[in-house]
Amino acid sequence: MLVVLISGRGSNLQALVEAGLPVTAVISNRGDAAGLNYAQAKGIATAVVEHRAFAERAAFEAALEREIARFKPRLVALAGFMRVLTPAFVERYRNRMLNIHPSLLPAFAGLDTHARALAAGVKVHGCTVHFVTPELDSGPIVVQAAVPVRAQERADELAARVLRQEHVIYPRAARWFLDDRLVIEGALVRVKGNDAQLVMARD
Ligand code: GRF
Repeated sequence: MLVVLISGRGSNLQALVEAGLPVTAVISNRGDAAGLNYAQAKGIATAVVEHRAFAERAAFEAALEREIARFKPRLVALAGFMRVLTPAFVERYRNRMLNIHPSLLPAFAGLDTHARALAAGVKVHGCTVHFVTPELDSGPIVVQAAVPVRAQERADELAARVLRQEHVIYPRAARWFLDDRLVIEGALVRVKGNDAQLVMARD
């Protein structure tokens, strides 16, 4: 039903599994991704497609596509998958690939979001689940969680508080998708039944 692509720790993968989502396979572009161990311990199929083994991005993506296809997923979930994907790849999974990003998009696309949010002096930060489109960290927003920034907070503290919310909103978004409740209307996403697409963190 759901294939999760990771590169590292895999805490979002873990949140998806613990929420009871039907994760059929976990694929990593790095053999040392800690999330692979978690998946194996849970009896979930794993595969590694090392990007470094391919000279060309297109060849890497073709191999990745083949691995994904083996599991015939309805949904592909990027969860800390640290490779930029080509438009051709993204197009193949149009409207059925989600990503989690650690900022309130469209603010702070890209890396180092927490340090950049603090440096910008924003008072609200957070995370976003969105459909993946060719442009990096853009695409129709499914759900966001807002995290108030504390005075004198360090980036690692803020990151930890945002991560807790990632673990709340990603399973929610994936469940909506698999329950056929997401309707993409142009740049916007509506949830059938009007469930809240905004979570306000309390801690
Ligand atoms: C998360 O912060 C996610 O938002 C970002 O990469 C990180 C992955 O963490 N895309 P994990 O591997 O899920 O623990």
